[in-house]
Amino acid sequence: MAEAAAKPGLPNEIDPREFDGPNFQKNPFDLYKRLRDHHPIFHDRFHNRWAVSRYWDVDACFQDNQSFDRAMYKPDGPYKFGTNHVFGPNILEYGNSDEHRRLRNIVAGQFVGQKLDDFIPMIHQISDEVIDRFKDKKSFELIREFSSQVPIRVISNMLGLPRKDEDMFVEWYQALIAGLGFGGEHLMRGIRARNQMWEYLDPLIAERTGKDGEDLLSRICNAELAGSRMTPEEIKGFVALLLAAGGDTTDKAIANMWYHMTYTRPDQLDAVAKDPDLWQNVFTEMMRYDAVVHMQFRYTTREVEMHGRVIPERAGVILYLGAGNRDERVFKNPDTFDVFREDLHMGRENRSGRYKDSKPGHLGFGIGQHFCMGYAMARQESQIACTHLLEALGRPQPRDAVHPGITSPSIDSGGFRAPQELWLTR
Ligand code: HEM
Repeated sequence: MAEAAAKPGLPNEIDPREFDGPNFQKNPFDLYKRLRDHHPIFHDRFHNRWAVSRYWDVDACFQDNQSFDRAMYKPDGPYKFGTNHVFGPNILEYGNSDEHRRLRNIVAGQFVGQKLDDFIPMIHQISDEVIDRFKDKKSFELIREFSSQVPIRVISNMLGLPRKDEDMFVEWYQALIAGLGFGGEHLMRGIRARNQMWEYLDPLIAERTGKDGEDLLSRICNAELAGSRMTPEEIKGFVALLLAAGGDTTDKAIANMWYHMTYTRPDQLDAVAKDPDLWQNVFTEMMRYDAVVHMQFRYTTREVEMHGRVIPERAGVILYLGAGNRDERVFKNPDTFDVFREDLHMGRENRSGRYKDSKPGHLGFGIGQHFCMGYAMARQESQIACTHLLEALGRPQPRDAVHPGITSPSIDSGGFRAPQELWLTR
């Protein structure tokens, strides 16, 4: 179906500079709706890219590996993967190549099923330890004291790093995340942190390779697929990626869940307190309503025609998960946050995005070849951390009557969508 024509100067016209403004950072949803309704395939000539915003279009692009790739360079070309990335060589840069498949298949099994279950008691323990540090305070800032502390300590423990080094690991993590932005100074700080972390990891990798060990670092060092293992460089790149992909995202997920339960739907928090399993629904609806990650980048490998528009070969395309998740063609009252929503698949996600209950899932973990490897871990960890906090503190209240809400971070600092601060009182 051809898109509805938008005439210059009329309200539905989109000025691409809107994507860069503070309004979009805070509330992208009005622009998403104009995109979905009037420009489902939007050619942004200012930024030289295309935007896809409807649910089933985002889904279709994710599933179409023949036309959309994540890497803009060829694996066998002269570009050396990892050289310009704050994490070093890592799976995110390898696009749809065989190299991506190899690396993914070596490690993906470590984050699901029994392997994940092995770490569950530790996630309970870390959540309690972090809560103990502030549980006697009348007021506390949830992000600094809780959500930014739990996931990184969990990853550090999973990797089997000495507990005395945890605080150092938290510092590297913060520098790496900031390095993901576009600021030169942040990038340099991120790369310095990465180099320090690599030096720290070198002897550990050497020590654990070839020996049995139940910690994640040993498992990654020794994981083998058809005779192939990760090289020490790849292991270090993967550990750096884990900090951001597994740490910062879950940190922000926990913060967003609490923001919604204290500001958006405090009326539903009582039900959650009575039945902690409902944190699963809070997690799922949070991932739909205002997902931690709103967009993913792709490049076309051939011409693609959608809604009567032709996206040329080698064009940059943004898949707006955040816009697809609010598509009124798929979800009833999409702008309402509802833990009991009946038109959303509430259970654990899967890579195909297709469920037996025939309800659509959220798009917040992507779909297909690059579907989030930590989907089960993020869900488990968020649920455990939130359950412990609610149990330990009774029913915390927001300290401030008015809150600026969830925002994207400034463009020079990296990171994901979340409230910048969340003060709660007991
Ligand atoms: C709520 C928390 C999380 C969110 C919102 C999130 C989001 C995403 C999204 C949208 C993608 C797809 C990328 C694409 O299509 O190009 C992705 C991929 C990935 N995620 Fe997550 N993630 C989360 C937690 C985690 C955790 C806990 C881990 C650690 C195990 C993790 C590891 C990864 C990795 C390694 C990839 C790359 C997969 C590939 O390219 O094959 N994520 N994540």
